[in-house]
Amino acid sequence: MGWKLTLFIVLSAVAVGYIIHSSLNPPLKAAPPSDIGDEWWGRGLPEVSGSKQDTSVRKFRVNVSDEVLNDLDARLRNTRFVDRVEDAAFRYGFDSDYMKQVQRYWLERYSWRDAEKRLNQFDQFLTNIEGIDVHFVHVKPKLKPGQKAKPIIIVHGWPGSIYEFYKMIPMLTDPLSHGGSAEDIFEVICPSIPGYGFSEAPHKQGFAAYAAAGIFNKLMLRLGFDKYYVQGGDWGSIITLNMAIMYPSNVKGYHANMGAQSNLKSFLYPILGQYLPSIFLPDKRDQERLLPVTDRMLDLLQESGYMHIQATKPQTAGQGVNDSPIGLAAYILEKFSTWTIPQWRDLPDGGLTKSFTLDDLLTNVMIYWVNGNIASSMRLYKEELGGNSRKYHEIYANLVPMGYASFPNELFYNIRAVTKHYNPNLMSFNYMPRGGHFAAFEEPQLLAEDIRQFVRKVEAL
Ligand SMILES: *[C@@H]1O[C@H](CO)[C@@H](O)[C@H](O)[C@H]1NC(C)=O
Repeated sequence: MGWKLTLFIVLSAVAVGYIIHSSLNPPLKAAPPSDIGDEWWGRGLPEVSGSKQDTSVRKFRVNVSDEVLNDLDARLRNTRFVDRVEDAAFRYGFDSDYMKQVQRYWLERYSWRDAEKRLNQFDQFLTNIEGIDVHFVHVKPKLKPGQKAKPIIIVHGWPGSIYEFYKMIPMLTDPLSHGGSAEDIFEVICPSIPGYGFSEAPHKQGFAAYAAAGIFNKLMLRLGFDKYYVQGGDWGSIITLNMAIMYPSNVKGYHANMGAQSNLKSFLYPILGQYLPSIFLPDKRDQERLLPVTDRMLDLLQESGYMHIQATKPQTAGQGVNDSPIGLAAYILEKFSTWTIPQWRDLPDGGLTKSFTLDDLLTNVMIYWVNGNIASSMRLYKEELGGNSRKYHEIYANLVPMGYASFPNELFYNIRAVTKHYNPNLMSFNYMPRGGHFAAFEEPQLLAEDIRQFVRKVEAL
């Protein structure tokens, strides 16, 4: 072998090593350029003069008309069910025999008027930001003289809603009645993502995670909070992470229960961990959750088909489920089955009522139904994964303190090495004893306690 060839091989090896090293550890910048100005997501042209813009905060109550409910009733009665695959349980998707039970429950026992009362137990408001009406729950705690509450914004994801947080909110605003101490008292803002729940949908293309983050920071500033905490799972974790990166002087701490960042390490470490677990997946719980890696990759593939559809043709996919309540319930509730415990696809009822009640599950579906906005909720995938993302959470480091609650059945499970890489100020990373993707809905007490201990650490800085 000539020296030229040897040199070539050595240089190539160095180059490949360098490329692998730098893609494992891409240099992260500190913060995005401050070019995020006023955007406009309303219909038509922006209202240019600030003085014309309506910045009032209006009271809101959920109160759907009888017309909507009568129409729903007729559609439910006229359902055209798909035929059944014998003994398939949830492995082919929502089982149609169980779907018939859900239909009967929805028609005969479920009460939307009761759900409205539950939804209206907390004060809700609308305020117009960048041309669209943003809906939010705002719960102020009862404070003793001298006591101060810490403001926190908690953000849901897909296919969830503000309702996922309804059990956790009192744990944050009234900690003494819920296993916390007096210092753990929060003032909670819980918005519907634009295009979701009772918030108006953006009318223009391009409403990616950074845009929701911009709107939610404006919301907090409008309410008088210039220092606040953020928390989220699913899209909520990505939106609130963008807030932490874009507004580090406003966000005091970022708490998440889904890993929103992934790089080559997220893929390579589990693969290498198969052979060298003690180096690449030093924690036993990561090994249990991620190995054998081929099975886990297949699980992820099996559970993420919806994402490809929504990131490409949301308007097509949305049309059918916006027109059929049973179609919508199948599409949404199947996620609450397998994203809570993957093995529940082997149960005839998808294990749905093992962790949730049909009343609570249907209320979450109803929030999409009465607002007719499943398609706009899907569009966030198109905007964030289909080319309009600004990718702030991949390019920039999050420098504000971070807390991570790692639930064992989280679909997008993340390892500490990746979390730490993007969030050098990682202050707590806890392996939770149980729970899946819808942590606030399923395990509100565990999530509330993890938020409290994280915020105590930040406050002690
Ligand atoms: C809901 O709206 C109807 C019709 O506008 C009204 O009569 C009723 O009092 C409202 N209910 C609640 C609980 O606000």
